[in-house]
Amino acid sequence: MSKIEFLDLGKQPITNNFLDTKNPKEEFMYKLKVTFDEQAKMVSLGEFVPPEKMFNENYAHRASMSKTMQKAYKELSNSIKKKFNPNSILEIGSNDGVFLKNFSENIVIGVEPCKNLADITNSMKIKTFPEFWTLKLSDKIIKEYGNFDFIYSANTISHIHNLEETFLAIEKTLGNKGIFVLEDPSLIEVIKNGSYDQFYDEHAYVFSLTSIIKILEKTSLEVFDIEKLSTHGGSNRIFIKKKRNNLKISNKVFKFLNEEKVYGIENIDVYLKFGEKVQKSKHELISIFKNIKKNNKKIIGYGATYKSATVLNYCGLKSNFIDYFIDTTITKQGKFTPGTHIPIIKPDETLKDDVDYAFLGAWNFKEEILEKEKKFIERGGKFITHVPFPNIL
Ligand code: TYD
Repeated sequence: MSKIEFLDLGKQPITNNFLDTKNPKEEFMYKLKVTFDEQAKMVSLGEFVPPEKMFNENYAHRASMSKTMQKAYKELSNSIKKKFNPNSILEIGSNDGVFLKNFSENIVIGVEPCKNLADITNSMKIKTFPEFWTLKLSDKIIKEYGNFDFIYSANTISHIHNLEETFLAIEKTLGNKGIFVLEDPSLIEVIKNGSYDQFYDEHAYVFSLTSIIKILEKTSLEVFDIEKLSTHGGSNRIFIKKKRNNLKISNKVFKFLNEEKVYGIENIDVYLKFGEKVQKSKHELISIFKNIKKNNKKIIGYGATYKSATVLNYCGLKSNFIDYFIDTTITKQGKFTPGTHIPIIKPDETLKDDVDYAFLGAWNFKEEILEKEKKFIERGGKFITHVPFPNIL
């Protein structure tokens, strides 16, 4: 086995399993470990959680809830129309239609295994298959709709366990002149940011460009462009085409690849060092919380993100430290955080007067939140974050 474990984040719950009660009778937990495969140059979880436990009709994440994301998807759609002008678009992991709704519903198809979300887009007249992306599904779609000019998938491919099948199905579904765009958190950014909370049940993989290029070697696909994004604390938008399509490969691809090489992304030492840094981060964050509590100050959580489940469970931060979380996602409100059982409530116009500190669960929206919570900051309220290292803002 060429897989080497470099991080042990302890026992963790299903991040999207927001609970109805503070004292659940049963809660599924698994061991969250992270490994590096020296041959495939791939970072993945040591143990995969069965997909049906994560992606089902209770799935809470709504991509449309954030103004930042709404705007980002609108801009992306405009640029796709201008650059590629596709006549048919398939999205793998279409969530609540935040991307597809920017196109005519006659040319788009969604794939979304969470039935509650597929129902939303189907009711928007966007034909959506409530299924997992597999070779079988791709065959069905091709039979009915033919090949596609454009396939898009954001924050989804890294969730699918069988990558070989995934890319083969994409290769089959894509027209010869077709473009596939994949967007996922960037491994180099995760390491630089110390954002170990990108590792959780759903993120079976965290991709580097190097690892994507390596896996595509088994197909007729190749990367021809890449953009760095600020979403999810640093993501890559990777543009892929068929080798026979002679679109030019951008210099950015070679530059980025070299940047990863120089950083040591192919080298286990980088991961072992990261593992040590994460352990240090845990102790520092706990001590920040303990010091604040010693002074009897009130801490709440801001944004009950999936990511934050990893931090809270790894660091053992429960209701004794955090009174409650606020979150704008309706489906999370009135529930309790997985594993740590902290209540989640609907945010008011501004943070309540008795709140002294807010832990940034949604640190990836730091700018948007700091802007929104000016009043809190003006009256001396402070934010706690663990990225790029534990500190009080
Ligand atoms: P998201 O960025 O999708 O992170 P993850 O994939 O780790 O869950 O989630 C952001 C969450 O934060 C979402 O539930 C909405 C919430 N949120 C707020 O409650 N207030 C805000 O001002 C913002 C920007 C987000």
